[in-house]
Amino acid sequence: MPEPLSPADLRALDRAHVWHPYGPMPGRQEPLVVESASGVRLRLAEPAHGQNELVDGMSSWWSAVHGYNHPVLNEAARGQLDRMSHVMFGGLTHEPAVRLAARLVEITPEPLQHVFLADSGSVSVEVAVKMCLQYWRSAGRPAKQRLLTWRGGYHGDTWQPMSVCDPEGGMHELWSGALPQQVFADEPPAGFGMEPDAAYAGHLRELIAHHADELAAVIVEPVVQGAGGMRFHSPGYLRVLREACDAHGVLLVFDEIATGFGRTGKLFAAEHAGVSPDVMCVGKALTGGYLTMAATLCTTAVAEGISRGEVPVLAHGPTFMGNPLASAVACASVDLLLGQDWEQEIKRIEAGLRDGLAAASGLPGVRDVRVLGAIGVVQLDHEVDMAAATRAAVREGVWLRPFRDLVYTMPPYVTGDDDVARICRAVCAAAREG
Ligand SMILES: Cc1ncc(COP(=O)(O)O)c(C=O)c1O
Repeated sequence: MPEPLSPADLRALDRAHVWHPYGPMPGRQEPLVVESASGVRLRLAEPAHGQNELVDGMSSWWSAVHGYNHPVLNEAARGQLDRMSHVMFGGLTHEPAVRLAARLVEITPEPLQHVFLADSGSVSVEVAVKMCLQYWRSAGRPAKQRLLTWRGGYHGDTWQPMSVCDPEGGMHELWSGALPQQVFADEPPAGFGMEPDAAYAGHLRELIAHHADELAAVIVEPVVQGAGGMRFHSPGYLRVLREACDAHGVLLVFDEIATGFGRTGKLFAAEHAGVSPDVMCVGKALTGGYLTMAATLCTTAVAEGISRGEVPVLAHGPTFMGNPLASAVACASVDLLLGQDWEQEIKRIEAGLRDGLAAASGLPGVRDVRVLGAIGVVQLDHEVDMAAATRAAVREGVWLRPFRDLVYTMPPYVTGDDDVARICRAVCAAAREG
């Protein structure tokens, strides 16, 4: 084992050489150095604002739903490591990937029968788009190669996903002129519990009908738009999309990368609407936050359509496709989730977030407070001062990562009531000081 780096050396090397998400080079913010993590706590290599460890309010960006260093997931990883950590997926197969695919087919909406294992959420969206375009190409309709989505969305950082992120004010606005030109509907009206707005439903139907000849698919995040603004909408709009897509011969893709595996209170957010898509992406919590893996599922009609084409194969095959380690941990993570009363746990966290975040409504500068499942959001009426807000949360012993006008949390499902309350105090402090 190499000599451990001191936190100061580590930070200096980090600053000189390491690019962080959405960051400049060299970095302008001092990242906290995490030494280890277990349960819901991140242990710091040196104290920050008087804290040696922080309760994780972010689940490492929606992924670590069981918390860190979980004995069951550790065991799954170790067991698989002793057999093989990786083997190519072309011409070979193995039990972890096959088990995982079968499990995903079992737990996702019934028409989804086929699974493409990808190495990140963004890649799974690329694959979903490729599936849809190729489906229509194979059907002799090559002009159907655009996508429709609603504004306010986020689908990842590679090229096709970027083209369906919100083109204005979103993270990828810089690339508007260079990206494929997609069709954008207005943002869905806010409010999970709201009745669908007839005028907005009409707007969706009209746009889909108008562009049907050039549309391969509609792609949306169902019920919760995550990194595009942490907005919730009525599940009713998903039914509108399903009906309009069926009526006009357009495929429907649900990106459940953030919402999947219980986060919104249903195992998959599509269940709130009782509709199933033609193609669906899952990722993030798939491996319980242990390893990078995502999956694109599709119906038999989509798979057979592609296979009937002039090029009857889906030409995509990442080197680490179906990685056995990630697959084994994903199987263990899904079993761990489904082997407990996860719905009750999400309801418990939801109640804790509602209680604890109620105090935020009265704070100056707070525009909206909303909670759905294990997601709590405080929206400000101004751009958050990320450094000040983060500092305020750390002082409360909590890790948060605010962005734009949002201070938000999606804690691990194993977060106890006291820690949920602590996270809420930190969100309020961040909203006050940010
Ligand atoms: C809805 C949604 N789609 C896609 C992605 C991209 O996933 P990844 O970061 O694993 O590439 C994200 C990530 O935040 C997401 O929230």
